[in-house]
Amino acid sequence: MRARLAGSTASAEASPPRTTRSADSPAYNRGGMAQWTTQRGTTPQQRAESGELNLALGQPSPRLLPAARLAAAAERQLARDQLVLQYGASQGQLPLRRDLAAFLSRGGPRIDAEHLLLTSGNSHALGLVCDTLRGSSNTVVVEDPTYFCVRGILRSHGLDAVALPIDDDGLCTTALARHLAQAAAPAFIYIVPTYHNPTGRSQSPQRRRELIALSRRYEIPIVADEPYNQLSFHGPIRGPLAGDPDADFVISLGSFSKILGPGLRLGWLQATPHWIDRVLAHGELRSGGATNPVVAHIVHDTIASGFLGDHVAELRATLRARANALEAALRTELPQVGFRPAQGGYFLWLDFGEAIDTNALQQAARPLGLTLLPGSRCGDATALRHYARLSFSFYEPHELTQAVTRLASAVAATRPDRRPADA
Ligand SMILES: Cc1ncc(COP(=O)(O)O)c(C=O)c1O
Repeated sequence: MRARLAGSTASAEASPPRTTRSADSPAYNRGGMAQWTTQRGTTPQQRAESGELNLALGQPSPRLLPAARLAAAAERQLARDQLVLQYGASQGQLPLRRDLAAFLSRGGPRIDAEHLLLTSGNSHALGLVCDTLRGSSNTVVVEDPTYFCVRGILRSHGLDAVALPIDDDGLCTTALARHLAQAAAPAFIYIVPTYHNPTGRSQSPQRRRELIALSRRYEIPIVADEPYNQLSFHGPIRGPLAGDPDADFVISLGSFSKILGPGLRLGWLQATPHWIDRVLAHGELRSGGATNPVVAHIVHDTIASGFLGDHVAELRATLRARANALEAALRTELPQVGFRPAQGGYFLWLDFGEAIDTNALQQAARPLGLTLLPGSRCGDATALRHYARLSFSFYEPHELTQAVTRLASAVAATRPDRRPADA
């Protein structure tokens, strides 16, 4: 039986019929456009129009991008040494790796600078590890559901995803053990162990141990995609899987995208020197030196000055307030929808129950000025069709509350028992 993903059982109980309104209706724009988070212009990949609420956007809102601080850091670094513009050391400059290791070790086990390699973010790092680990295998074990872009990255590197179920504790190790015993060895196992995309869940300590034990037993690397670890809402930051005892078959990927700015295209890979050396042999790193050395110097400035630590603390508080607002509105307006309160990261995973297909829900939501990510985008389209991912990273609390009002209207418009007179 399929592992259940939402905290409470959702049933699409009858809810009072609601009036649906279109996004250009003055009712949605009451109070003026200035109150809405917008993102326009030629630069961003995804626009967010005034009055639109796109909760599929898994990115920081413009207000959370510290442009002035990075401009000052850039000026300082370029004035300091013209060699900042030179090819960089392939693994990334050692002073940065030392400071990054200290930053990542806050409150947890010490990370060694020799275990870090700079990348251009986790998407790039995934490409590097695909090329490095492919060997004779053309499959990668992934979680179902998983980060919706990962299949595309694997495909671009000649690899196919084999999806295994997750439950409340992370990737099901019983299913994984069976797969490893019976099927051809995969090139690697891809997981998002902390504040998972899309479910927001984090792997339990027991499950982490079981996974690490399986990776050692079968000598199959685990690639842990961990861009959200720093964004815990309660208690300490969750350490990278590669930092766990015995994690000698684990490669953790970290990124500045979610904690400083996605446009920086900078991240890091953490693993033992054996894996670092293998990735360093990649032709791309041998040819061009380090990825993105200028940005690496700028980001180094933000770590060394203490700015990044303060910024992350502020982000955690801001994201927690946003998650709280979204959750409170859901409890009030859609009590029949199941979800687990976010403990960190960017996402809530909603279980709408058997009666709601979230692909149809998205169709109903669009004219209301609301976008969500249907579960079918994240894995098994049939099994996940009652789920959806909402991101709370891009909008202010009052906008998230408004988004839930629109969502409730969309749910009312999607209910299969809805009579024409209700429309
Ligand atoms: C799990 C996961 N991996 C990778 C990425 C992309 O990371 P980067 O911007 O570092 O390439 C994202 C962004 O949404 C993500 O959620």
